[in-house]
Amino acid sequence: MSEPQPLLELRDVTAGYAQDIDVLRDIRLRVDTGQITGLIGLNGAGKSTLVKTICGFLPPKTGQVLFDGQDIGGIAPHKLIDLGICCIPQESSLFPHLSVQENLMLPLLGRPRRFGKDARDRLQEAFEVFPALREKRSQAAGSLSGGQQKQLEFAKAWLQQPRLCLVDEPSIGLSPRISEEVFVWIERFAAMKMGILLIDHNVRRVVRMSDRVCVLSLGKITAEGASSEFQGDLHQQVQQWLGLHF
Ligand SMILES: Nc1ncnc2c1ncn2[C@@H]1O[C@H](COP(=O)(O)OP(=O)(O)OP(=O)(O)O)[C@@H](O)[C@H]1O
Ligand SMILES: [Mg+2]
Repeated sequence: MSEPQPLLELRDVTAGYAQDIDVLRDIRLRVDTGQITGLIGLNGAGKSTLVKTICGFLPPKTGQVLFDGQDIGGIAPHKLIDLGICCIPQESSLFPHLSVQENLMLPLLGRPRRFGKDARDRLQEAFEVFPALREKRSQAAGSLSGGQQKQLEFAKAWLQQPRLCLVDEPSIGLSPRISEEVFVWIERFAAMKMGILLIDHNVRRVVRMSDRVCVLSLGKITAEGASSEFQGDLHQQVQQWLGLHF
């Protein structure tokens, strides 16, 4: 039986910021509906560059970025929401001077055909899923704590009902308790049939919750497989894959 078509597939993608320097080389990667693909690698390996390439901020020099079988390489980033792709970037995507509610509604209001009259109802649902935001809804997003801002990022993504969510370093700078909450939201997103590309420096957590794992090292995928292949003496294996084990 042939495998189902991946939700997201990168085929031999090469990309970089300067014409003659490739940060990513021959990247092959897939994310399936309702599954988590974990991407791990050292600082500077190119993980965020990969996210920027999928989101069209950095067009691939060669290769293809396929979403649902359609080549979206170099897509205008504002078209992603309409396709059903959402990115929670390593840096904030919030407008700090706008209120919590305005940040949540902004992507919806510009898209009446996709979200229509349900937008206000969905906002109320979002406050039920992320209750801490309800009481803060009139406050400027920039006045929230780091954990609350992360919650706002996830609520904003949840409201968009994406089919694919790219999550780059969601636990960075958060306490262990809030980080754990973040990972539970991600599992919940996958249970809602989203495909997830998850990048995080908490390698053990990423391996534990992912279906597939990819290791990126100096812009190349150096190991890839089912997460079960990455368990066991994880630390030693990952060190080896990252080229640190001598
Ligand atoms: N805007 C940019 N212009 C030029 N080079 C960049 C730019 N952004 C990143 N780079 C370079 O690309 C390489 C990969 O960076 P990237 O941010 O993708 O790494 P990363 O794996 O996400 O690292 P981290 O774990 O620190 O987030 C690095 O050498 C970095 O210096
Ligand atoms: Mg990064």
